[in-house]
Amino acid sequence: MDRRRGARLSAVDEDVERVLIDEDVIGKRLNVIAEEILEEFGGQEFVAIVILKGALVFTADLLRRMPVPLQIETLNVASYHGGTESSGQVDILDGKLPDVKGKRVLLIDDILDTGRTLHEVGKKLREQGAEMVRSCVLLSKDKERAVEVGADYTGFLIGDEFVVGYGLDYRGRYRNLPYVGVLKDECIG
Ligand code: IMP
Ligand code: MG
Repeated sequence: MDRRRGARLSAVDEDVERVLIDEDVIGKRLNVIAEEILEEFGGQEFVAIVILKGALVFTADLLRRMPVPLQIETLNVASYHGGTESSGQVDILDGKLPDVKGKRVLLIDDILDTGRTLHEVGKKLREQGAEMVRSCVLLSKDKERAVEVGADYTGFLIGDEFVVGYGLDYRGRYRNLPYVGVLKDECIG
């Protein structure tokens, strides 16, 4: 059964202007990225650090493609504070980084936009003594970054527009859409 026909999901589908990346395309790309990451980490243990909440859906699908011993830690970070423009400040909400001393880390985020989140969190992990830090994002916006930073693994390069779904939200909603899409103008207030 097509999940999108379910009564509750169709209510959010109606707010979507267009689908940018559909579920099947995401799944195929994840197979490729998972292989690449496994190759780099050589099948050895690492710590996956998930930046909440946006990377939740992506991480669940990505890590289930990696049959190696790994630890999952979460980091609660806010930079958007509910709107469509970055606030320019990255806050680690619960104030504490997981213990990464001497460990190999894969940092996972939903999207690379201004670059501040990956830059700040990556810097902190290195300062805490992580042996190696690699970063992975589902999406990367094709734009000039506020800070010089790139992701080691990127799912898709997209234009500079606001997207939702597959973990990404607008004011806390739309994270459960199984695809990445663009909202109708009237849904962004
Ligand atoms: P950066 O620190 O500016 O690179 O922003 C990264 C964070 O901003 C992401 O983890 C998202 O939570 C949020 N963000 C950036 N662009 C979008 C978007 O198009 N839709 C939803 N959230 C976004
Ligand atoms: Mg986020």
